[in-house]
Amino acid sequence: MTTPLPESIGRAPGKLILFGEHAVVYGHPALAMAVDRCTTVRLSPGTGPRRVQAAAMEDPRLPIALDALLPSEGVDVQIDTELPVGRGMGSSGSLAVALVRARAVWQGRTASLQECIDEGFRLERLFHGNPSGLDHTVSARGGAVRYRRTAAGLELEPIHLGWLPLVVLDTGKAGDTAALVAAVAARRPAMDPVIQRIGALVEEVGPALARGDLSVVGEAMNENQRLLAQLGVSAPDNDALVAFARSQGALGAKLAGAGGGGVVIALHAHPERLIAAALLAGIAAFSVSVSPPE
Ligand code: PMV
Repeated sequence: MTTPLPESIGRAPGKLILFGEHAVVYGHPALAMAVDRCTTVRLSPGTGPRRVQAAAMEDPRLPIALDALLPSEGVDVQIDTELPVGRGMGSSGSLAVALVRARAVWQGRTASLQECIDEGFRLERLFHGNPSGLDHTVSARGGAVRYRRTAAGLELEPIHLGWLPLVVLDTGKAGDTAALVAAVAARRPAMDPVIQRIGALVEEVGPALARGDLSVVGEAMNENQRLLAQLGVSAPDNDALVAFARSQGALGAKLAGAGGGGVVIALHAHPERLIAAALLAGIAAFSVSVSPPE
């Protein structure tokens, strides 16, 4: 191995699901994008056992993930994130990819996209047991994608997004993805028409997203939110933030991710106005845009 740099830095973005969560579990497509907020991993030479500073990302599974990638001695690790952790914005996927990138820099090279995807998945499995693989893949590739899960695996296809002034509103609560997915499964087949409609909506909204047609995209977000509420995954905290965003002139708003808390996304022609109103009301909010493809 070459002599390590004083500091080896790896960075990777989080993600948002724009349309299609939950229906994607049943083979329908969904749309997601990498966001302009990142997790950063800094590796520096240390003496003795590895020291880790992870602030918001402290997690009992973190040492296991670090053991899988880094020597146990001689390297200190600092992890920082701009993402709300555990709220459906892909913080662990971005951590996985940032770690893979930082390790490669530490070794005097650049991680390839395939390495980020393969090694990132290995780390995501340590964090989540049986993840879909979407989060770390979107994080590694950047950009926006249409994805679909089939028996053969995850299909990903880049998509183009027009102007999409999005605001994230944070409930401050973590949703339990596995429990919410199980609750939807328990309500089938009664919920199948709702799931079908979400899948159809994903197909319908594509052209409006590419054109940046805010009123069509906003109405589709509102419909997607109504359907998610029918599935039973929109918690009162989600409903309250959706109602707040609409009361402030959002063209559309929906939960993003599994629901039961987590974040809400809102489309607003003047995002800064919605953010100012949210902050005044004591709601954590920030604008978000797509991070460019790698
Ligand atoms: O909580 P998140 O952002 O990882 O989203 C979960 C999305 C679901 O469709 C509810 C589940 C899944 O595995 O696709």
